[in-house]
Amino acid sequence: MYKIAVAGTGYVGLVAGVCFAEVGHQVTCVDIDESKVELMKSGVSPIYEENLEELMRKNYAVGRINYTTDYQVAYKDADAIFIGVGTPEQPDGSANLSYIATVARQIAESVEKDCLVVVKSTVPVGTNDKVEQFIQDFLVHDVRVEVASNPEFLAQGSAVHDTLHAERIVIGTESKWAEEVLMGIYEPFHLPIVSVNRRSAEMIKYASNDFLALKISYMNDIANLCELVGADIQDVARGMSFDARIGSKFLNAGIGFGGSCFPKDTKALEYIAKQQGYELKTVKAAIDVNKEQKTMLYKKASKRLITFSGLKVAVLGLTFKPGTDDLREAASLENVPLLLEQGADIYAYDPVGANNFAKVHPEGKHGRGSITYVSNVEQALEGANVCFIFTEWGEVKAITPEAYEKLMMTPLVYDGRNIYSVQEMEEAGVEYHSIGRKQ
Ligand code: UGA
Repeated sequence: MYKIAVAGTGYVGLVAGVCFAEVGHQVTCVDIDESKVELMKSGVSPIYEENLEELMRKNYAVGRINYTTDYQVAYKDADAIFIGVGTPEQPDGSANLSYIATVARQIAESVEKDCLVVVKSTVPVGTNDKVEQFIQDFLVHDVRVEVASNPEFLAQGSAVHDTLHAERIVIGTESKWAEEVLMGIYEPFHLPIVSVNRRSAEMIKYASNDFLALKISYMNDIANLCELVGADIQDVARGMSFDARIGSKFLNAGIGFGGSCFPKDTKALEYIAKQQGYELKTVKAAIDVNKEQKTMLYKKASKRLITFSGLKVAVLGLTFKPGTDDLREAASLENVPLLLEQGADIYAYDPVGANNFAKVHPEGKHGRGSITYVSNVEQALEGANVCFIFTEWGEVKAITPEAYEKLMMTPLVYDGRNIYSVQEMEEAGVEYHSIGRKQ
C-alpha cells in the first residue's frame, strides 16, 4: 500500500483521496482552507456527492484518511502526490494554471524522499513537462521527483461510483519507474489501465470531454432541425442508439451542456489549437451550437407571449444537471436574468441548488421582476402562467401532466429536458413545448 498525499479537495481531489483510502492506501488530503479541513475531519463533505460522506467517515474512523492544511508534513515522505486543484477558464479561453504552480512549488520545497507527482487536474497538453521542470528548478532535497499525468473521467453526481468502477484509468508517464508506481497505486482497483506518454494522456482528457460535448451539440443541432421537418429527436436518438458504433449514451438533446468541464474544456482545446495556428472547427461548432441552445426555450416563449411582465413564471431546476448543487454554466443562469429583465415574477424550485442560486440572485425584487424560492414543485406551479424546466430532477419528473393542468393558471410548459411524452401532455390539456419534438 502507498502513502499518498492529495492537493486540493474539490470534486477531483477529494473523491480521488477518499477512493484511494477505500482501496487501502494511506491518504492525506491537503487544502489551504482551515475551516474546510475541520469540516472534512468531522465527516462533512464540502461538495454534495452521493456516498462520499459515508466513505469519508468510514476511512477517517480507521485512520486511512486525514485532512490537513500543513502541506509540508503531508508531502515530505509521500510515495505519490496527486494534484487535483482547479484550472479555471480565463477570459481568452485558456486555462489558469496558477493553482498548479503554487502546489508544484510547495512540493519542490517539501519532498524529502523519491516521489511521483501525479497531475489529475485537466491541463493543456505539455503542461506536465513544465510542471516537472518547475519542480526540478525549486527542488530543495536531493531526491527523485517525476511528474505523471492521470486525467480524471468522473462525472458529478456519480463521482464515487465513477472512480471505483471507472471504465478505464489513463496514465501518462515518461519512465518505467513512474509507470510502475501508478500501476501499483491502481492495482487494487482492478480496472483496465491505458498507459501512454504524458502528452497523449493530457490529450485523451480533452479529446474525450470535447467528443462528448460535440455529441450533445450534434444532437441539439439535429433536434432543432427535427422540429422544422416534423421529426421527433427522441425517436431519432433511439433509432441511432442501436448502432454500436454510435452508442446509446449522451444522445439526449436538451437545453445545452453546462457544468465545470465541457464548457471549459471545449474552449481550452480550441485555444490550444489556436496557439498552434490550427482552427479546431468541430469543437468550435460544438461551442457555438451550445451557446444558442441555452436560450432556445426563452426565445420560443418570448415569441409566444406578449410579455413576461406581471406573469408568474415557475422555474423547475437550477443546477446544470441533477445530483449536484453545482450551478456552473447552468442554463438557469442565462435564462433567469433574461426573465427578470422582462419583469417576470419567478418562483424557483431546486432540491439542492437553490441556496447557491440565491447567492447570485437573492430572493426579492429585481428591477421590474422578482424571484422567490419555494420548497416544492407544487408551490412553484400553483397559479403559474408559464413553466420552464431546466433540470431533470427526480422531483420534477414525478409531477404528472395532469398536475400542470390542475395547478397552473395557464398550463404552458417549456421543457428543456424532454421529460414528458408530447402526447400525454397534450391529452392532459397542457400546451407543451420541448426540444426537437412536435411543438
Ligand atoms: C463531464 C464528463 O461526463 C466526465 O467524464 C468528466 O470527467 C467531467 O466532465 C470532467 O471533466 O471533470 P460532468 O460535467 O460532471 O462530467 O457532467 P455530465 O454528466 O457529463 O453532463 C454535462 C452536461 O451535459 C450537463 O449539463 C448535462 O445535462 C448535459 N448532457 C449530458 C446533455 O445535455 N445530454 C446528454 O445526453 C448528456
